[in-house]
Amino acid sequence: MKTIFSGIQPSGTPTIGNYIGAMKQFISLQNNYKGYYCIVDEHAITVQQEPQKLRQQTRSLAALYLAVGLDPEKATIFIQSEVSAHAEAAWIIQCNTTIGELERMTQFKDKSQKNGRTGVSAGLLTYPPLMVGDIVLYNADLVPVGDDQKQHLELTRDFVERFNKRYAQPNQEILTMPEVKIAEQGSRIMSLQTPTSKMSKSDSNPKGYISMLDKPDVIRKKIKSAVTDSTGIIEYDVENKPGVSNLLNIFSAVSDRSIPELVEAYAGKGYGEFKSDLAEAVVDLLEPIQIRYEELLASDELDDILDRGAEQARLVANKTLQRMKNGIGLGRKPRRK
Ligand code: TYM
Repeated sequence: MKTIFSGIQPSGTPTIGNYIGAMKQFISLQNNYKGYYCIVDEHAITVQQEPQKLRQQTRSLAALYLAVGLDPEKATIFIQSEVSAHAEAAWIIQCNTTIGELERMTQFKDKSQKNGRTGVSAGLLTYPPLMVGDIVLYNADLVPVGDDQKQHLELTRDFVERFNKRYAQPNQEILTMPEVKIAEQGSRIMSLQTPTSKMSKSDSNPKGYISMLDKPDVIRKKIKSAVTDSTGIIEYDVENKPGVSNLLNIFSAVSDRSIPELVEAYAGKGYGEFKSDLAEAVVDLLEPIQIRYEELLASDELDDILDRGAEQARLVANKTLQRMKNGIGLGRKPRRK
């Protein structure tokens, strides 16, 4: 069985964008792959987090992984900071990655332009090597992510090639080369208020996103106030009608109806009816998830699963880390016991 690795930052409550671009893929792939699904809390601290809130969001994200349908019998679910190999691997990877490569990352460029280079943490620059570490430690073959993570996956592939070339014996490999898996549809869900920017859980305007824990009335209100245009025609045209096209993408992903099917069904109907049906489809998807989430959050089951997950993850991650150290020549040669 091939292996999957993916992660989500507990930097806020996941949005419907995280669900469509990432979680939905996790579920559909879980029967055919060995999966490692991580709550990447070490990534979240590249920007300052409130300690209590970070802990709460970390556990909450774990509950959501389970509530959307990840099965702990099939997949390993764990918290990144509970497996110390991640931070160790990240250091080795940083030392084999150039500053030039990291400065080219669009996420770093965007954030450092917004806040000024001197105002962002060094971790924001060196965060992609931590992500590379996440992936390589589990020998992942496939990494399901949204469109915004593509560049980080390219960096991962470049790193694996370089590392194997530098440190593995000829015709052997220390690290597995991963492939990226981007959802065919919905890999970039846009903000409801600014449909030319990505929907983000850290948006300062909550009207821009639907959180997976938003209550039905909040969801209805947010969709009702989503920015569209004045033509009143429901059609898919990302360039000229980014708002409506984004809503069509969301509708299709949450209802499993194709976009042409939806366009046909709403021909001649107004935005009001379209939005209200979309809101009901989102509510129908999220309500049962929220009920299961509340049950899990109040249970010991969640912590048992996370304890087991961390244990299983450590076994695999430590082995890979040792192979990396052996390749580079860190420490002494392991002794036969
Ligand atoms: P994060 O936490 O920003 O997002 C988690 C996942 O959700 C996807 N995503 C979206 N998909 C569609 N539309 C959107 N608007 C949208 N917003 C987010 C992201 O592409 C991602 O798949 N660095 C990563 C987390 C990470 C990771 C990893 C992922 C850390 N290590 C190793 C894969 C493998 C991040 O910040 O994702």
